[in-house]
Amino acid sequence: MTIDDIKTMAVIGAGNMGHQIALHCAIMGYKVACTDLSADTLAKAEEFVASDLPGRVEKGRLTQEQADAARANIRFTRGFEDAVRDADYGLVTVLRRSLISLRHLGFECERADAAQI
Ligand SMILES: NC(=O)c1ccc[n+]([C@@H]2O[C@H](COP(=O)([O-])OP(=O)(O)OC[C@H]3O[C@@H](n4cnc5c(N)ncnc54)[C@H](O)[C@@H]3O)[C@@H](O)[C@H]2O)c1
Repeated sequence: MTIDDIKTMAVIGAGNMGHQIALHCAIMGYKVACTDLSADTLAKAEEFVASDLPGRVEKGRLTQEQADAARANIRFTRGFEDAVRDADYGLVTVLRRSLISLRHLGFECERADAAQI
């Protein structure tokens, strides 16, 4: 696999790092599924995306069309399996102590280099 083969991404953990990374990937044109154990964190991540994109348009950093495309590229799901099912690439943005819970979910560490975190 090369980087050009990557079309879809899963971002595991929608906290401080995760929601920013997920949005950036969506702006760059990737289809992104963002998940978190916390419904509250996931809702805040979705609110952030909804409020951040208009600001980028106002500042001239994105066109309205680019902002709309980015919003359409990103989705938020509580379901870990749902997030990773169609992902070509996974980004794990959880704290080290949380990796044990990923393993409990049967996450294949090799798939997203989680072992290097
Ligand atoms: N915040 C930063 O500026 C920063 C900078 C560099 C590196 N990092 C690294 O990025 C990683 C994430 O940091 P953060 O600040 O975003 O942490 P955070 O606590 O804000 O977010 C982590 C999120 O992961 C979620 N989570 C935990 N286990 C999960 C699981 N099994 N499935 C789905 N979601 C799960 C938590 O609910 C939480 O919302 C850490 O390893 C940190 O060291 C953070």
